[in-house]
Amino acid sequence: MSASSIGTLNVVVIGAGTMGNGIAQTFASFGHAVQLVDVSQAALDRGMGAIRKSLDRFVKKEKLSQEQSDEIFGRIQTNTDLKAAAGTAELVVEAVFEQEEVKKDIFRVLDEVAPKDCILASNTSSISITRIAAVTSRPEKVIGMHFMNPVPLMKLVEIIRGECTDEATLERTVAISEALGKTVGVAGDYPGFIANRILMPMINEAAFSLFEGIATKEDIDTIMKLGMNHPMGPLTLADFIGLDVIVEILDVLYEGFGDPKFRCCPMLRRMVEAGKLGRKSGEGFYKYN
Ligand code: CAA
Repeated sequence: MSASSIGTLNVVVIGAGTMGNGIAQTFASFGHAVQLVDVSQAALDRGMGAIRKSLDRFVKKEKLSQEQSDEIFGRIQTNTDLKAAAGTAELVVEAVFEQEEVKKDIFRVLDEVAPKDCILASNTSSISITRIAAVTSRPEKVIGMHFMNPVPLMKLVEIIRGECTDEATLERTVAISEALGKTVGVAGDYPGFIANRILMPMINEAAFSLFEGIATKEDIDTIMKLGMNHPMGPLTLADFIGLDVIVEILDVLYEGFGDPKFRCCPMLRRMVEAGKLGRKSGEGFYKYN
């Protein structure tokens, strides 16, 4: 992985969870100086642990040397003080959990402290970029940068243009994403954008098929994995993404479009209520060690 053709940037990534730590790792892998921000040092330590584990896998596969891996890791600083971190940022990528009010609070702070020409991106998977941008005094600089999990491996960045995002911000964000070795797809700012507007109904339909007893979970996954040449069946993918995330996104689609075709399968919701969140909780459609 070489230094990017757009120069090295001061990048602030907010949220050290799965998406945030993957985004931080990816920017650092391409030579950028990253500050990973979260509310607690414990969350940051967990995020840095995940980055180390992912880098170790690249070393084991001989895609990186130990020295390169250490250099990448060394480019990531951690910080619990968002105001201090964002003061010199050229790009901020917010990747906290999917709560609109939490995201808006963060963007209010960013508007106060980030340099005027800084791009303010959100990794939201379904919340309106236009509404997030509206709490700032510079909505033209706000954009969606939706990375896919696992971020270091997945080729796509879905870029979402809010109602007020200007052409310069869009062009710069596309260039930054491409310099990370990613391919960009641009979507308009409507619920679920493109990725989740199309992915979530497929997963929901797989859940309904199981709920209605049409096939076993294994058969549903086998049919879709081998029949459509998908890397994972939809129920395995649901466990990978997190069933709580899926229910949240389906609710955003249902409310945003007011269309019953996005109605969440009751079994999915009940599983979440029971704490069956997928891989991260040890059980979803399948059980994990
Ligand atoms: N870091 C580094 N390497 C990793 C990694 C990580 N985080 N995760 C997996 N790998 C590597 C493994 O080491 C392995 O390498 P080798 O093949 O060289 O040994 C390789 O990736 C394959 O991993 P596994 O054998 O563990 O499993 P797999 O073959 O099933 O691949 C996968 C894993 C890449 C995740 C693949 O299954 C896949 O592409 N699945 C679909 C993922 C997907 O659809 N993601 C989008 C989810 S939706 C989303 O993110 C957005 C949203 O808003 C909900």
